[in-house]
Amino acid sequence: MKRIRSGVAPVAAAVVGALILIPYGSHDNARATDAKAAAANESCVTDKCHAGMGKEKFVHGPVASGSCTSCHIPTGNHKFKPITNSGKLCLDCHERLDSRKVVHAPVRAGKCTTCHDPHQSPNKFQLRKAGGELCLLCHDRAMVSTKFVHGPVSVGDCTACHNPHQGDIPKLLVAKGNDLCFTCHTDKAEAFKSSKFSHAPAKDSCLMCHSPHGGNFRYNLPTDGEQGLCFSCHASKQQEIAEATTKHKGLETSKKCLACHDPHVAGYPKQLRAQPMDLCMTCHDREYNSPTGRTANMKELLAKNIDHHGPIKEKDCSSCHNTHGSKNFRMLREYFPPVFYSGYNPDNYKLCFMCHEQTLASEESTTTMTGFRNGRKNLHYVHVNKQTKGRTCRACHDAHATNNPRHIRDAVPFGAWKLPVGFTKTETGGSCLPGCHKKVSYDRDKPVENN
Ligand code: HEC
Ligand code: HEC
Ligand code: HEC
Ligand code: HEC
Ligand code: HEC
Ligand code: HEC
Ligand code: HEC
Ligand code: HEC
Ligand code: HEC
Ligand code: HEC
Ligand code: HEC
Ligand code: HEC
Ligand code: HEC
Repeated sequence: MKRIRSGVAPVAAAVVGALILIPYGSHDNARATDAKAAAANESCVTDKCHAGMGKEKFVHGPVASGSCTSCHIPTGNHKFKPITNSGKLCLDCHERLDSRKVVHAPVRAGKCTTCHDPHQSPNKFQLRKAGGELCLLCHDRAMVSTKFVHGPVSVGDCTACHNPHQGDIPKLLVAKGNDLCFTCHTDKAEAFKSSKFSHAPAKDSCLMCHSPHGGNFRYNLPTDGEQGLCFSCHASKQQEIAEATTKHKGLETSKKCLACHDPHVAGYPKQLRAQPMDLCMTCHDREYNSPTGRTANMKELLAKNIDHHGPIKEKDCSSCHNTHGSKNFRMLREYFPPVFYSGYNPDNYKLCFMCHEQTLASEESTTTMTGFRNGRKNLHYVHVNKQTKGRTCRACHDAHATNNPRHIRDAVPFGAWKLPVGFTKTETGGSCLPGCHKKVSYDRDKPVENN
């Protein structure tokens, strides 16, 4: 809305049409009431004089109507006072633009004509430059010279986000916080509304990670978004990964952290892109052979071995493995011997004893601690609990899945050989014909005499 002085009302009315005219009784302005001015008006634009005036695509209202003297004060024969305070001049007819909380510095300083040509321009609103070029008259061009430039900035549409004059939101923004981004990124708005989990900083402010203008990294991030960005806030995770002696190559694919985590929203806790075990299977659906060793195809293993270990039934690989690497063999959360033999020490089996009772192997004689006993004789104790050459759990069990009951494996690697276990389960006990000794049986109710 523009405030128009009564003195110029006839002129304004002629060109403005719908303008709201506010009667303005004062007479601090000599211009429009000056008789000479009226005369001057008629002769200002002729074929010879000021011929270009009014020919541009966008012509200022009073100029269009030939009302030169509504701004210029004639002082005699074709002499006009220079205009020294154009900002104040504009306010003779236009509403003040400095009433809101945040006012753009040049507007507050009354420098209307640094942006607007008082007469005419090829650009709408008689702007001196089109689009972003106008803003770059004063603002650093570095803003738009980055390797990546945000869509609306690249087409110079600064005013898609900023009010040029004034507003109520800091930085002259047209909307608050993430709502600004959501006005265009409606898919993201929808995702934040409909997803179960969202990353705390993204919910707080998109600007925690993205520059609104541009940047030298993809997606206008301050650094690489695949990992560097994550580490900038998750320093303890960075440390944990650095200190791991068994590294996970799953962290080293081209997508790095983003292979598993979504930076914005997720259907699963911890910003995971999929149910965690399904996520593991996106890569562990093949065998890996690297100079450092072989990594089995877990998807196939689980498909071929139908009796899945408790935590795997719960689809929880992380209960045993630390996805980000660990100080243990195979990225295990707790120590587990990578070897067939080990002297007995409950700490050797910390991994299993996170969930199972360690008394399973510590009591020589029992009727309750384990089903692996011959009468009262604890066969776990017999095999495991030795000063040297104690059999480790892996000698008999597979941690993931088997077709045998009690996760007894068919065979266990023994050097280059696959040592068979040969387990048969019965109602009250079982028997083994392993590559270690001849067939032996055990029975919990009626102890077997193996000779
Ligand atoms: C809305 C106020 C306004 C009106 C109406 C107006 N001028 Fe101006 N004119 C200015 C201002 C302000 C300047 C000072 C230079 C600047 O800021 O660009 C100016 C400067 C000029 C100059 C100096 C050279 C230049 O372009 O900078 C000429 C010549 C001129 N005007 C002619 C005219 C003529 C002819 C008309 C009528 C057809 C007219 N003006 C109408 C505001 C106005
Ligand atoms: C004598 C009265 C008068 C003065 C002084 C005046 N304007 Fe205007 N201005 C108008 C009228 C009348 C219009 C036409 C309004 C319309 O078309 O809606 C207009 C239109 C505009 C427009 C375009 C608005 C639109 O919606 O298209 C801009 C921008 C503008 N003026 C800026 C200025 C600036 C900057 C100054 C000071 C250099 C100034 N005006 C001084 C009367 C004036
Ligand atoms: C930093 C540059 C800049 C300055 C300084 C500036 N304007 Fe503007 N003005 C703009 C831009 C850009 C637009 C177009 C806004 C849009 O695209 O919606 C505009 C639009 C306008 C309009 C028409 C649309 C509207 O909002 O009514 C008027 C009238 C106007 N300005 C008057 C002024 C006056 C009076 C001053 C001085 C008090 C001034 N401007 C100072 C950049 C500026
Ligand atoms: C005439 C010079 C000039 C032009 C043209 C100009 N600006 Fe500014 N702008 C300034 C000045 C001066 C400041 C204050 C700088 C400061 O405080 O560091 C400023 C500050 C800003 C700010 C920060 C406001 C705040 O509250 O912190 C934004 C945003 C901004 N300008 C956007 C724009 C946009 C968008 C345009 C183009 C439509 C534009 N500017 C054109 C001179 C200009
Ligand atoms: C997509 C929206 C968007 C667009 C388009 C945009 N900006 Fe910004 N701009 C912002 C946001 C958001 C901020 C506030 C950044 C912050 O607070 O860290 C900002 C801040 C600024 C600032 C203040 C800088 C500071 O460090 O305080 C200036 C100046 C500025 N913008 C100018 C421009 C100019 C010039 C253009 C066009 C070339 C432009 N902006 C286009 C969103 C935008
Ligand atoms: C005025 C509309 C608009 C606003 C507001 C807006 N954007 Fe954008 N944004 C776009 C457009 C257009 C693209 C380019 C889309 C493309 O290339 O596919 C884009 C692209 C992006 C991209 C991807 C860049 C790329 O290389 O693909 C990011 C990240 C982004 N915007 C973040 C933001 C953030 C953060 C905000 C809020 C500060 C925001 N946008 C506000 C229109 C907008
Ligand atoms: C924690 C940092 C972070 C925050 C906060 C963040 N983003 Fe992102 N954003 C990223 C990363 C990292 C990527 C690159 C994703 C990829 O490569 O898959 C990205 C990509 C994007 C993209 C382009 C690719 C896509 O997913 O469409 C858009 C658009 C985007 N972000 C918008 C937003 C908006 C809007 C917000 C605020 C609601 C926001 N971002 C908040 C880190 C962040
Ligand atoms: C601007 C800082 C910041 C950046 C950058 C950032 N995060 Fe976050 N992140 C947080 C905050 C704050 C939380 C919530 C606090 C918490 O739960 O630890 C969080 C939470 C998380 C969580 C869930 C933690 C939990 O216990 O529920 C994951 C996973 C995560 N971020 C991964 C990432 C990844 C991957 C990246 C890189 C794409 C990243 N973050 C970038 C600040 C950040
Ligand atoms: C191979 C998939 C995968 C990759 C790659 C990955 N993570 Fe995770 N991340 C997970 C899983 C799964 C969890 C859930 C907790 C768990 O199971 O250990 C998690 C949890 C987190 C958490 C929450 C705290 C915690 O440990 O529970 C943060 C923070 C985190 N990850 C950051 C990162 C960062 C930073 C990167 C990149 C260096 C990254 N992650 C790479 C799978 C991954
Ligand atoms: C983005 C792909 C990817 C994802 C997702 C992934 N991994 Fe891996 N993982 C690998 C690669 C590659 C290796 C290295 C294989 C090799 O070279 O032997 C590996 C190796 C391993 C190893 C053996 C480490 C060693 O060095 O001994 C374990 C254990 C493992 N992953 C568990 C998991 C678990 C648990 C998950 C799910 C939480 C998971 N991985 C998700 C790619 C992935
Ligand atoms: C109960 C603990 C436990 C759970 C749960 C578990 N693992 Fe393991 N995982 C181990 C142990 C122990 C090893 C080392 C086995 C060995 O060398 O005998 C291992 C080894 C691996 C290996 C290397 C395989 C190889 O080539 O020897 C991969 C890959 C792996 N696990 C992935 C997974 C995935 C994926 C899941 C979820 C489906 C999972 N693990 C669940 C304990 C577990
Ligand atoms: C994260 C917890 C967890 C860890 C660690 C764990 N287990 Fe288990 N284990 C379970 C659950 C749960 C069951 C299922 C119990 C049930 O079905 O009653 C189970 C069942 C078993 C069974 C079969 C019992 C039966 O009734 O069929 C054996 C054998 C076994 N685990 C051995 C091991 C070994 C060996 C380790 C170490 C490599 C280990 N577990 C580590 C949770 C765990
Ligand atoms: C010499 C082979 C062998 C070794 C070594 C072994 N187990 Fe077992 N384990 C068995 C057999 C056989 C059963 C089945 C007993 C039954 O139900 O008949 C069994 C059963 C289990 C069960 C099911 C509950 C129970 O006690 O009956 C768990 C849990 C278990 N073992 C954990 C372990 C752990 C942990 C280790 C390593 C500390 C280990 N086992 C070492 C052969 C072994």
